[in-house]
Amino acid sequence: MKKYFLTTPIYYVNAAPHIGHTYTTIAADAIKRLKRIQGYDVTLVTGTDEHGQKIERAAAAANKSPQAFTDVVSAEFRKQWEDLGLQIDAFQRTTAPNHAKVVQEFFATCLKNGYVYKNAYTGQYCVSCELYVTDAKPGDNCPDCGRPTETVTEENFYFKLSAFQDQLLELHEKNPEFLQPESKRNEVLAFIRQGLKDISISRTTIKWGIPVPNEAPHVFYVWFDALNTYRSAVDAATWPADLHLIGKEIVRFHAIFWPAFLWAAGLPLPKKIFAHGWLLFENDKMSKSKGNIVRATPIKNVIGADALRYFLLREIPFGSDGSFSYDALIGRYNSDLANGLGNLCSRTLALIQQNCDSRIPQSSGDPEIAAAAALAVDSALDSYEQLNFSKALETIWGFIGTLDKFIVERAPWKLAKSGETAKLHETLYTAAEAVRLITELVSPVIPESAAKIWAQLGFETSLDSVRTDDLTWGKLPVGQTIQNLAGVFPRADLKLMTEEMKQGEAAELARQKELLGQTAAPAEAAAPAAPPAPAMAEGVSPIAPEITIDDFIKVDLRVGLVKTAEKVKGADKLLHLSIDIGEPEPRSIVAGIALAYQPEQLVNRKVVIVANLAPRKLRGLTSQGMIVAASLEGGSPALAAFIEEVPVGARLK
Ligand code: MSP
Repeated sequence: MKKYFLTTPIYYVNAAPHIGHTYTTIAADAIKRLKRIQGYDVTLVTGTDEHGQKIERAAAAANKSPQAFTDVVSAEFRKQWEDLGLQIDAFQRTTAPNHAKVVQEFFATCLKNGYVYKNAYTGQYCVSCELYVTDAKPGDNCPDCGRPTETVTEENFYFKLSAFQDQLLELHEKNPEFLQPESKRNEVLAFIRQGLKDISISRTTIKWGIPVPNEAPHVFYVWFDALNTYRSAVDAATWPADLHLIGKEIVRFHAIFWPAFLWAAGLPLPKKIFAHGWLLFENDKMSKSKGNIVRATPIKNVIGADALRYFLLREIPFGSDGSFSYDALIGRYNSDLANGLGNLCSRTLALIQQNCDSRIPQSSGDPEIAAAAALAVDSALDSYEQLNFSKALETIWGFIGTLDKFIVERAPWKLAKSGETAKLHETLYTAAEAVRLITELVSPVIPESAAKIWAQLGFETSLDSVRTDDLTWGKLPVGQTIQNLAGVFPRADLKLMTEEMKQGEAAELARQKELLGQTAAPAEAAAPAAPPAPAMAEGVSPIAPEITIDDFIKVDLRVGLVKTAEKVKGADKLLHLSIDIGEPEPRSIVAGIALAYQPEQLVNRKVVIVANLAPRKLRGLTSQGMIVAASLEGGSPALAAFIEEVPVGARLK
């Protein structure tokens, strides 16, 4: 059997799933169902991207360990896809043990093949944004936050992306099908033509990652790690993927980095990458701060998963940006599903029930409609093949319109009265056979509803067993009994359903926040204006803007015991300390306190440490935290201390 392997991106677990993630995964599920109709044995892979600083921070904000936090959020994604009935074959996590092995072996091969090297990088680093500021000189400020940058040197593993410049150009120039849509291919070509620089593929400033073997404290850069889930999720024999479905913002990683990584490891490339557009909410970017993020579950609970699937794939040309709104969702549902398809089905089946004793009548159908059906099938399959869902659905709904017209013109109720049985049977066979074909054609997009119509048509086999060969006129068995007639798409009340979805949305938001250990205040609520800062005594800095307890709890302050202290060569102000905070190894901390304290004054002294500050390098030494001190006149530090006896490792809060 022919095989087809497709993937969605693996989703970051710093936040719970929302409708943007759902959009990609629903599209992937629809493609899977479509490929099955075409006779493929299909594998659909998704998963979660769980390493890196963003996740480390989200976990700290939730007061959880990274592993505990990612377990919870990853399970939310898995549950979301199950709830929506998506047919996922493998759900891979970057924290899966088999994945770490795949990444480490992949790295070893790239290294052996000469595409990886170690190099020190010196650049201007913004401690606040935790980013190197490209093209900045010593003394420059960070363009994002305006704070002064520091000159920092970090040693990293580098990947020779530059070695693949020509090969990448050729790949995209000669294979216009490799990356779609065309606009994205042009962007990528332009980017490659600018010249590719080598990229760092390890980090020493992050702990939460897959270790580079024998190279502690290096962990792999998130993309080197994440892209390999596409391989680690399946058997080696299943690689390469036929399709990577992605959002447009991650094209560069998939269309430049990934092919180069794979070449470096001597592995085949995926066959195709398709980048869809961005989903907006009422034409506005969805964001936490705007409080306009929509989730799929409340929509599914009120109007059904198929309504959402249909809306997303019909309303937004695949590859372009599009907008979600409750009004547009319900509008589409009523016009296309309730009035369009739903009406055609119930009318056809009711007429067969009333006039043909619930059996499909003997006829070969109307030849003109049969011809129109063949055209619609070909055209819809063609559009589907190009992942042009909206066009495929437009074609199918055009055919629904043709049938509505046909039924009205034939007026089977009149034929029944006047006793024109042959014509009546031809009319009803035509309508029922057309409904069968339509049901098969829409099944990748609205599988649950299609299965209901399928069963009402009297089929006992699963709709999943339908193949392209079945999509020809005349396959509806004469005499088959239609059964259990019931409306598949009840009309939706715009006001009522919008209200219910919004209420569900608020409840879902609160549930997710509870789950992620964050405040339950709805994101929509505007933050209260900060009270004016009270005047301070002269020489004392003003109070910083107000924060919440949740902000404060992110800072992990611990009691530490200084084990050793020494001056840092060539740096008057710095001391290098090792401080026990109750972990197996003491922390290495570099502090700017050398002008106020002699090293020997500090040994055996208890101090307060910010224990969850991202590590950084100072003068080639790693600093894994910060000592808390009062800042006196002229910036001179006075270390915080305790009057009572306190144990090492105790948390301050
Ligand atoms: N973890 C990376 C991907 C690694 S793949 C080896 C990542 N994760 S993500 O969670 O930020 O987003 C992943 C995907 O979610 C996007 O590429 C896109 O497919 C989908 N979307 C997330 N928000 C979206 C919208 N608002 N609109 C449409 N899709 C969006 O990037």
